[in-house]
Amino acid sequence: ATNAVSGALRAAATSPRGCSFSTTSASKAKVAVLGAAGGIGQPLSLLCKLSPEISELSLYDIVGTPGVAADLSHIPTHSSVTGSLPSPVSFPMKGNIGLEETLSGADVVVIPAGVPRKPGMTRDDLFNTNAGIVKTLVEGCAKFCPDAMIAIISNPVNSTVPIAAEVLKKAGKYDPKKLFGVTTLDVCRANTFAANSLGLDPKDIDVTVIGGHAGITILPLFSRVGGAKFSDAELEALTVRTRDEVVAAKAGAGSATLSMAYAGYVFTENLLRAIRGENVVQCAFVESSLTDASFFASPVKIGKNGIEEILPLGDLSPYEKMWFDKMMPELKSQIQKGVAFANA
Ligand code: NAI
Repeated sequence: ATNAVSGALRAAATSPRGCSFSTTSASKAKVAVLGAAGGIGQPLSLLCKLSPEISELSLYDIVGTPGVAADLSHIPTHSSVTGSLPSPVSFPMKGNIGLEETLSGADVVVIPAGVPRKPGMTRDDLFNTNAGIVKTLVEGCAKFCPDAMIAIISNPVNSTVPIAAEVLKKAGKYDPKKLFGVTTLDVCRANTFAANSLGLDPKDIDVTVIGGHAGITILPLFSRVGGAKFSDAELEALTVRTRDEVVAAKAGAGSATLSMAYAGYVFTENLLRAIRGENVVQCAFVESSLTDASFFASPVKIGKNGIEEILPLGDLSPYEKMWFDKMMPELKSQIQKGVAFANA
């Protein structure tokens, strides 16, 4: 499901006028983007503005959102846009609409707030800054939209998702079926690289990626790609590449933003389709009893009220089993780090 070209992009490709989409089947859904002025937040918000699935888009950041919202509001699609800051400047200008108004009534909250990596940094190096940001924002979700589905992009996902769970538990609002760490970029990368290597169209490939979202905890299951026979060297190269090469290529200017915005949008759109009653299966980092880690990324079936089923892992190839065994201690310790932070 993650592999499907999203509705907004399909609409963009087929719209006869090129800049306006049919709204006849438009859904009513409110999506809040927290960290909306950032490298991921802006293109993610643009894709949301193009989406026929979204009727209300509310943007929040500590800087820049009134301008981003004003800019997006000139795109002739049916959704409304607001941009809020913690201070009394907002778009439209109606006083301090802040986090409360951003979140009230939200069906889905997407969180790309926080600092990205620079070369030489691991995702775990971001912990000190991003843990507090995610904690504060999820406290807002517990207060203002306790029923929303929450999709966390901020790294380190392996720790920020457990932090979010603890924050929600403390507020008495935790529903493990509605909290997700977004690992869709790993799936997008695995699909792209496998398709390139096999000479196929990426839309015909849907690689399952399990584990977590940091370094060796990212484990793409290339052995399941139908008909593919990768050599050991190819398999190793594909696996390592899926764990990221953008940070180095950007040489200090951050990490993936455009491909992450696409991946974050696909994830969000799949949640909205699930809320509308479609059955959706996509990989996500969620509370899980599949392994002895309390959170784990794997394909999950999502319906109206969140996760309906965490699908069984199935057999791993010997190569995948080797990485699985290597990753588990690291994954568990990153989860524990998040839990400890939230309870400190
Ligand atoms: P960025 O620095 O360009 O943007 C982050 C935005 O968050 C900024 O606009 C900033 O003002 C805002 N922000 C900071 N504190 C905030 C707060 N308390 N409330 C609201 N907004 C706040 O960073 P970028 O490149 O957009 O990356 C964002 C996060 O996404 C990073 O943590 C990065 O590591 C992560 N990421 C996750 C991926 C994934 O696959 N899950 C892939 C790529 C990046």
